Amino acid sequence: MSEPGLMVTIMEFLAAFFVFLIGLGVLVVIVLYIADISQTTHAIRRNYPVVGRFRYLFEHMGSFFRQYFFAMDREELPFNRAQRSWVYRAAKGIDNTTAFGSTRDLRPTGTVFFVNCPFPTLGEDAAPTASVTIGPHCRTPHTTTSLFNISGMSYGALSRPAVTALSNGARMGGAWMNTGEGGLSPYHLEGGADLVFQIGTAKYGVRDDNGKLSDERLKELAAHEQLRMFEIKLSQGAKPGKGGILPAVKVNEEIAKIRGIPVHQDSISPNRHPDINSVDDLLVMIQRIREVTGKPVGFKAVVGAYGWLEQLFETVNARGKESAPDFIVIDSADGGTGAAPMSLMDYMGLPLQESLPMVADMLEKYDLKERIKLIASGKMVTPAEVAWALCVGADFVVSARGFMFALGCIQALQCNKDTCPTGITTHNPILQKGLDPALKAVRVKNYIENMVYEVGVIAHSCGVREPRQLRRFHARLVTENGRSISLDELYGQPPVVAVGEQMNQVPSG
Ligand SMILES: Cc1cc2nc3c(=O)[nH]c(=O)nc-3n(C[C@H](O)[C@H](O)[C@H](O)COP(=O)(O)O)c2cc1C
Repeated sequence: MSEPGLMVTIMEFLAAFFVFLIGLGVLVVIVLYIADISQTTHAIRRNYPVVGRFRYLFEHMGSFFRQYFFAMDREELPFNRAQRSWVYRAAKGIDNTTAFGSTRDLRPTGTVFFVNCPFPTLGEDAAPTASVTIGPHCRTPHTTTSLFNISGMSYGALSRPAVTALSNGARMGGAWMNTGEGGLSPYHLEGGADLVFQIGTAKYGVRDDNGKLSDERLKELAAHEQLRMFEIKLSQGAKPGKGGILPAVKVNEEIAKIRGIPVHQDSISPNRHPDINSVDDLLVMIQRIREVTGKPVGFKAVVGAYGWLEQLFETVNARGKESAPDFIVIDSADGGTGAAPMSLMDYMGLPLQESLPMVADMLEKYDLKERIKLIASGKMVTPAEVAWALCVGADFVVSARGFMFALGCIQALQCNKDTCPTGITTHNPILQKGLDPALKAVRVKNYIENMVYEVGVIAHSCGVREPRQLRRFHARLVTENGRSISLDELYGQPPVVAVGEQMNQVPSG
C-alpha cells in the first residue's frame, strides 16, 4: 500500500475508534443513569443521577488535593505544611532555613514563644545534653543522653520496612524506640537501638497461654540487653478506655508468634488491664515487673481525671520512693493512632498543654520530680514544641508521627486501611516497595540529630547551655487580652533549678 493510502486507512480507523468510544461513553452513562435512579441507598445519586457520583470522587480526592493546592502553610490539622516541611527537610539533612519572614501569627491566644537572653550562650560555652538516669534503684538502671525518642507504634500498625528503618535510625541517632503494644519483633532488634517494651492490655508478647502476664516471658525479654525499660500502657491519647480486636485475617503465623496468641483467630485487647484496678494494683504491677526484669518500669497514660495521680504519689511516699514508677509518659489527648473512634479521638482526655504542667507540678509537690522521670508525648514534631515541653518540666520527649514524617508519611490519613501510599502502615508488599529501610534509617537519624541541634539553638538563644536547662520562665504564652505571660507565672512555681544553672537566666515578667 502506498504511503498516502496507509495514512487514510489509519485516519479512518482512528475516526471509527473515536465514534466507538463516544458510543461506549453514552452507553455507560445510560447504564449508570438507570442504576442510579433505580437504587434507593443514596439519595444524592437518586435525585441527581450520574453527576451525583462526582460527590464521592471529589470527597475522596479532596483530602489529597487540599494539602497541595488549597490549604495555607499553617492551616491544616493534625499537622500543617510548615511543620511537615520542617521534618522533611530535617530528615533529608538539607538547609532548614526559611526566607523573608515568619508566616506564624504571634497574636492568637495560646501562642507560645521563648524569651531570648541579651547575652546568648556562645558556641564554645554550649554543653552537650546531660545524661539522665532512669530507675536508679533497679538492678540495671538506664542512663542516656537522648532527648527525643520514638514513641510506641506496634509492628502490625507499622510495616516491616518501617520498623526496620526506625530501629536502625534510632541506633544511629542515639534515641530509644518503643515497641508499641504488639510485642517485640525481630525487626525491632535488627537495628540495634535501645528499646522500651510496651505492655498493653492484652499483654502481647509477654503473656502466658491464658493471656496473663508471664514472669518467664518477662525474664526472656529482659535478657535482651537492648531492651532497656518496660512501659505499662494504661491509656493512649487518641483512644483512652478503648480496647480492640485484631481480626483473624491479620493473625498470621508471624504475628501470632510475636504476640503469643493462637494463629488465625480473632484476638481481643481489653479496654484496660484486667489486673490493674487501682493505684495500689499499678504499683504492685510495677514492682513485680521491676523485680523480675531488673530494669526500669514506668507507665503511659493520657490524663483526664487526675485525683488518682495525687493518690498515686501519696501512696508512693507512704511506701518509700523506691516503689515509684521510674518514669511516666503523659500522652496528649490529640495523640495519634492507627485507628480509633472519633468520639474518643476528638473529645476524650486533656491536651498536653494542660496535663504536662499539671503532672510536673504534682511531682514537685510530692518531692518526686527527681525520682520519676517525666516523658512528654503528643504533636511534638518540631524543635519549638520539644523546647516548650522541656521548659514546662519534661525530662524527655517522644514522638510517633514526627518519625512517620521522617519515614516519608504524607498525612494521607489511611493508617487504618492497609492502603498507606508510603508503605509505612500497610502490609501490601507493592506499597512497601517504596520504603527503602536503609535510606529511611538515615532520614530518621538526621531527624533526631537536627531536632536535638535546633532545640539547642533555642536553648542557647535563651541563654542556657543545653536544652535540659530550659525553665518555665524561658517561655511565654499569649493571653486573651493580647499580652503574653511567662509560663512560670501562668502555671505557678517553676521546677527547682539545680545549683550552677543560674547563669544567664532571664527572670520572669
Ligand atoms: C500508627 C500508630 C500506631 C500507634 N501505636 C501505639 C501503640 O501501640 N501503643 C501506644 O501506646 N501508642 C501508640 N500510638 C500512639 C503514639 O505512641 C503517641 O502516643 C501518639 O501518637 C502521640 O504522639 P505523636 O503526636 O508524636 O504522634 C500509635 C500512633 C500511631 C500514629
